[in-house]
Amino acid sequence: MALFEQPDARAEQELLSSPDAATRALSHTAVERDFVNDVYAKMASVYDVVFGPALHPGRVRAVERMDLQPGDRVLEVGVGTGINLGLYPRHCQVSAIDLSPSMLAKAHERVAKKDLSHVQLFEMDAGAIQFPDDAFDIVFAPYVISVVPDPIQVAREMHRVCRPGGRIMFLNHFRSSNPVVSAVERLITPLTVHAGFRADFDLGAMLAQTGLNAVAVERVNIPRLWRLVTCVK
Ligand SMILES: C[S@@+](CC[C@H](N)C(=O)[O-])C[C@H]1O[C@@H](n2cnc3c(N)ncnc32)[C@H](O)[C@@H]1O
Repeated sequence: MALFEQPDARAEQELLSSPDAATRALSHTAVERDFVNDVYAKMASVYDVVFGPALHPGRVRAVERMDLQPGDRVLEVGVGTGINLGLYPRHCQVSAIDLSPSMLAKAHERVAKKDLSHVQLFEMDAGAIQFPDDAFDIVFAPYVISVVPDPIQVAREMHRVCRPGGRIMFLNHFRSSNPVVSAVERLITPLTVHAGFRADFDLGAMLAQTGLNAVAVERVNIPRLWRLVTCVK
């Protein structure tokens, strides 16, 4: 199967494998941990309305692609309000972490309301995951990697806690391979960070700088501006 399945696969492949990917900036806008925490403290009460339905097809596709088997151990990174949690089958064990107490409070409410006894929530920084090496079969970051202050460190931590042969999955908006769109994304990112994400986040640079092995990249949501990236450890 080709890595990219969409019509502009060649441009996408070039962006991913270009020689400067190893040195390109992942984003041209930096964010600090306290800033991210403040943004999500303000957004917790409206997050599900603003980012719920439009981004949900990608969440559903990701969990379908996981093809979870009884006993599989899943780590969800940046669980937020827990909007994904009802999608995981009850026969797997889900650990879910987030930095923001306000977002996690919503996730706790959801776990209690839906009686999700297969889910455990932890307040934890994805840049310093408090689980041992090789602890999970799937490590999944839905709409998170362009949010965190240090995405390389988060991706390395996700890789560390994934077992050999397990999968590391990112669901996110990434910088476009179209130069005009990409320039616009870079221009608007100082604004989009206030809504909690960086629009110019560079997938090729992230993969090159972490050494992650991407085996599939598929476009999701409508419009198809987001991608589900599956890597194998
Ligand atoms: C855009 S929301 C994604 C929520 C959810 N995963 C979804 O599918 O909609 C990003 C989440 O990442 C969390 N986050 C940001 N930086 C983090 C970090 N360093 N460690 C853990 N969570 C972090 C934020 O608090 C927020 O809840």
